[in-house]
Amino acid sequence: MKGIILVGGLGTRLHPMTKVTNKHLLPVAGFPMVYYPLHSLVEAGIRDIMIVTGGNNPGAFLELLHDGREFGLEHLYFTYQANPAGIADALRYAEHFVGEDRCVVILGDNILAGSIRPYVEAFARQERGARILLREVPDPQRFGVPQFDADQRIIRIIEKPQQPPSRYAVTGVYMYDQQLWEILPTLKLSARGQYEITDVNNAYVERGQLEYDILPFGWSDAGTPESLFRATEMMRNSDFQPPAGC
Ligand code: G1P
Repeated sequence: MKGIILVGGLGTRLHPMTKVTNKHLLPVAGFPMVYYPLHSLVEAGIRDIMIVTGGNNPGAFLELLHDGREFGLEHLYFTYQANPAGIADALRYAEHFVGEDRCVVILGDNILAGSIRPYVEAFARQERGARILLREVPDPQRFGVPQFDADQRIIRIIEKPQQPPSRYAVTGVYMYDQQLWEILPTLKLSARGQYEITDVNNAYVERGQLEYDILPFGWSDAGTPESLFRATEMMRNSDFQPPAGC
């Protein structure tokens, strides 16, 4: 299983904090933001991890993380998304790295207060398809939101709906098999000018191959001043921390 962390994008919702630095380097409870998704992947047993950089200061991730040794890794892999064209576009840069394997993708501004290991293991046992993680939130309209049928299967995901069809957010942890690489070239630019990860997930829904788990522990994005504050509060009070030596 390969891991991919996406740390591109311009972080405009955090201006002026992100005018000259990369969002994923901002502090969250004592660590640079990117430490949390990296720790989540390593703790789940993933050893081969690529950081897809972009936006401001892409080289800073190399300076900060080196070869990943402080996280117990032997290597880290880096690439660069030249144009900020969305999450699904960023994944294209990791195709060679993933090769014939499967991958777990995590957005660099997603902070989790517990282990994703059981879900990664469930995905490893899954015959094919994709797997996403949901979390009940008070403000689903800020996220991708799943709509369920009577059997609790996801029938579609709506990106930032004005009328959310459920109380769940699709978190920024996505697990994909090889079908990802045939889906990506079929995507069209969305109204906000991005290749949307929600369109990838809906392609798996159409194939009847999107599974999910509901997180029982805290999760927050950190892409707005309010959510950055919430993520910091959450991790100040959490036992699930990056290793002390980092
Ligand atoms: C992205 C996804 C959205 C998901 C969210 C999780 O939103 O498009 O579906 O719920 O990440 O953090 P964005 O942060 O790009 O607005």
